[in-house]
Parts: sequence; C-alpha cells; structure tokens
Amino acid sequence: MEPVIEISNLSFSYPDGKQALEGINLLVQPGEKIALVGANGAGKSTLLYHLNGIFTGSGMIRVNQLELNKNNLPRVRAMVGLVFQNPDDQLFSPTVYEDVAYGPTYQGLDPHTVREKVALALKAVHMEDYAQRNPYHLSSGEKKKIAIATVLSMQPQILAFDEPTAGLDPRARRELIDLLLELQQTMIIATHDMNMVEQLTPRTILLNHGKIVADGPSLDILRNDRLLMTNGLI
Ligand SMILES: Nc1ncnc2c1ncn2[C@@H]1O[C@H](COP(=O)(O)OP(=O)(O)OP(=O)(O)O)[C@@H](O)[C@H]1O
Ligand SMILES: [Mg+2]
Repeated sequence: MEPVIEISNLSFSYPDGKQALEGINLLVQPGEKIALVGANGAGKSTLLYHLNGIFTGSGMIRVNQLELNKNNLPRVRAMVGLVFQNPDDQLFSPTVYEDVAYGPTYQGLDPHTVREKVALALKAVHMEDYAQRNPYHLSSGEKKKIAIATVLSMQPQILAFDEPTAGLDPRARRELIDLLLELQQTMIIATHDMNMVEQLTPRTILLNHGKIVADGPSLDILRNDRLLMTNGLI
C-alpha cells in the first residue's frame, strides 16, 4: 500500500530563528491512528501545521503521492482536515452553522448536501442545538467541539487533531474518543492525554526538541517509564 503521508527530512525554524523541527522522517499508512506526544514545546503543533501547508519547512511532504507545494495546496487542504489547538483560531463566522458549513460550501457542494453534512457533524459532537449560536459566545469546551465539527463536516481523508480532548468534560471526552474510534479515516493526534492514546491510537510518535525520539506501538512506549521520564512525560 502507498503511504497516505510521507515526510522526508523535514526541518523548520520560526522567523525568530527558533528551530522547532529537525530531520523529521515519517510514513503513515492509510487508516492508521497515530498519537503525537512530547513535552510542551516539543514541536507537535508545528509538525501538524506542516501537514496542510500552513508552515513550510525544508525537506519534503507528500500527501497521497502529491508533493505539498504552493500549486497543489488547495488539493492537499481538502485531504487533510486540521483542528487547531486553540479553537479561537478556527472559528470566525457569526453562527456555528456557518462555521461548520464553510468547508463543505468551499468544496462546492450543493446547499442541500451542505445542510446534511453540517447536521451530521454537529450531531457527531452532540451540538445540534447550537447551530444558530455565536461561536465567540461559547464556553471553551463548546468551542472545541464546534472546531472539531468544522473539520468533520468536510469528511477529509486525513484528520489531524491538536489536543482534541483538552478542555472537554469527562463525558464529552469519552464521547469524542468513541466517535474517533468509529471513524475509519487516517488520524494524527497531538495530545497529552495518555489514556486516550492507550484507547485510540495503536501507534505513537514521541517528539523531543523537534526530533522524533521514538516511533512504535503505543503500549510499548507508554510502558517505557525511562523513555517517558527522559522526555518529560512523567
Ligand atoms: N510563532 C513562533 N515563533 C517562534 N517560536 C515558536 C513559535 N511558535 C512556537 N514556537 C516554538 O517552537 C517550539 C515548538 O512549539 P510547538 O507549539 O510546536 O510545541 P508543542 O509540542 O505543540 O507544545 P504544547 O504541548 O505546549 O502544545 C517551541 O519551542 C516554541 O517555543
Ligand atoms: Mg501544541
């Protein structure tokens, strides 16, 4: 099988000179569910931002064999749905409905199909009653769920989530994990929620100072106290 994501020798420094990623190599097979873990500042969010071309480092990224560059950015963005760490970066419309409808509308779907996709996405995060609310006036957990719905409504082939369970109450967290378990899409999830990793993502990638220091079965990594200790995770 061809990998759905291929990253070769990706390095990236922020404009102020801070090197956030160094020599990242990664192959993701279709349907894999992968956790991206590491201490604060390890580079998880920075790596996710590269998957749909928000940042561009040196090295190469291919999504479905398509090399990520300026010309095919829109095609890659349609394939990779990214939920940001901070929902305020994702929500910009006057109503929840419009935010969740934005992706499918932009994909050129007809209004009836858009309505269906929005309804399904809001139902998936149990936020059907919020369609006409103003996203800015929601609690942070509610915003998080709407941010997730804005990506689910596009049904992208690859889901990239940055801390999806952060700020969710226990029931919402459990329901989100159950939902993600059911979805067949390829997933890369940056998280500090090790219980979710254990339940949801068979493979874990551990970052430290912008480098991959471990990549393997989640249960092996989660049981390796020395590795977790060295990398600031216990
Ligand atoms: N805009 C920026 N300019 C300069 N440096 C940045 C910028 N954003 C992030 N960094 C730095 O890049 C490194 C990686 O940050 P990143 O946000 O990717 O970490 P993270 O693993 O997602 O951390 P967290 O667990 O706190 O979300 C950190 O050292 C951070 O200080
Ligand atoms: Mg982060």
